[in-house]
Amino acid sequence: LRDRQPIVAIDGPAGAGKSTVARQVAAQLELVYLDTGAMYRAMTWLVLQRGITLDDECAIAELADKYEIELTPTSNLQSPVKVWIDGNDVTQVIRTPEVTANVSAIAAQTSVRKSLVRQQKNWGKKGGLVAEGRDIGTHVFPDAEIKIFLTASVKERARRRQLDYETQGLSSINLKQLEKDIAERDWKDSTRTVSPLRKAEDAVELQTDGLSISEVTGKIVYQYQKHLSN
Ligand code: DC
Repeated sequence: LRDRQPIVAIDGPAGAGKSTVARQVAAQLELVYLDTGAMYRAMTWLVLQRGITLDDECAIAELADKYEIELTPTSNLQSPVKVWIDGNDVTQVIRTPEVTANVSAIAAQTSVRKSLVRQQKNWGKKGGLVAEGRDIGTHVFPDAEIKIFLTASVKERARRRQLDYETQGLSSINLKQLEKDIAERDWKDSTRTVSPLRKAEDAVELQTDGLSISEVTGKIVYQYQKHLSN
């Protein structure tokens, strides 16, 4: 008998399709979906809302320690998981360009990562989780049963982000600018000193250019089933 249900860890750069795919995988396998990027975004929103400057690491550490981030998984695949911090429903505002532009600086702070990783590990105690982020397979759940590293070219990821923004009614976002922002964020996320984005040695790498969401989902579900049959 297993002592916990398996954990599926999905890591990869911005715009590789992790969120959409992770939700589909969770829905198909009836597991809980944990969006760790949403937690860093919620913390960033709170820092901006309080008017704290990004380099005030002490004040930010205090906030991160004090506030638990609530995530309410919805079973409806069309609507996003609801995110709450300090009594505010931040589901929508954490996706604005302003939060997106500032989140790397917050996610690079050791104290923030410590607080949020503690919260993430709590979610994982019983297993049965699809957790998605940058350091899930390497740091948060190094013992995850299934580890996936999702990638796609910068061009493809910029195009996907543009579509995301368009569905939010933000259609004036320039594609070249998005490509530049994504490349910059990749660089920041993978060169920072604490828990940089990198593929875990035992992760399966999936390059998703030209693949549909359901194709990518199918490949991950296959990895899960392969694990169970071993
Ligand atoms: O996946 P996303 O775009 O919502 O992530 C937002 C930011 O948070 C991104 O710049 C990287 C950071 N992040 C992180 O450092 N570690 C995680 N586990 C998840 C996200």
